[in-house]
Amino acid sequence: MNIFDSKALTWDDLPRRVELAKSVVKNIIPHLNGNEKILDFGCGTGLVGLNLAPFVKEVIGIDTSKEMVKKFNEKSKKLNLNAKAFCKDIFEVDEKFDIVVSSMTLHHIKDIEKLSKKLLNLTHKVFLADLVKEDGTFHTKGNEGVFHFGFDKKELNHYFKDWKQEYKIIHTIKKNKKFPIFLLMLYK
Ligand SMILES: C[S@@+](CC[C@H](N)C(=O)[O-])C[C@H]1O[C@@H](n2cnc3c(N)ncnc32)[C@H](O)[C@@H]1O
Repeated sequence: MNIFDSKALTWDDLPRRVELAKSVVKNIIPHLNGNEKILDFGCGTGLVGLNLAPFVKEVIGIDTSKEMVKKFNEKSKKLNLNAKAFCKDIFEVDEKFDIVVSSMTLHHIKDIEKLSKKLLNLTHKVFLADLVKEDGTFHTKGNEGVFHFGFDKKELNHYFKDWKQEYKIIHTIKKNKKFPIFLLMLYK
């Protein structure tokens, strides 16, 4: 069983998750023209993808957790949105998209250089939100499935060296301590 399957049902109950997704969406919206087909990878229950859907032509979500995908699709149907999710790994996608977005999934991807190259084949523009380098205490219930304790800017510069990059801090998650969140825009 995927570690996220058991979390899907109550994923949206945590206000700090909803707040973070709102910040991500708010920072992406000014870059949209309304005609885009967007891929949200590691879409989860759609906190980002479903909130972008009213501003674009279509949103496709993908996630390796089938329960997350189920929740995304239930919410999308209920809200009558132009968004559909599929149970898939980002490395299995081969369709082209106008924009690829992803929030809080990068630290669950082992090989970021491979991801960077994969994204080059899928799109011209990417928005990635994730944790700034942390000390391993963000995931209080253990670090299973976590390959990176956040990222520093230099490290991102290196991983995504084939892209032009814009980096900004857009949010801070307040838990036992403060965890800043970056938004990295990549374009060709
Ligand atoms: C921390 S959650 C974030 C969910 C959502 N983006 C949000 O902000 O609420 C990370 C999600 O990434 C998914 N995931 C992890 N590795 C993945 C991969 N290689 N391809 C697609 N999804 C992946 C997990 O199943 C999980 O639902």
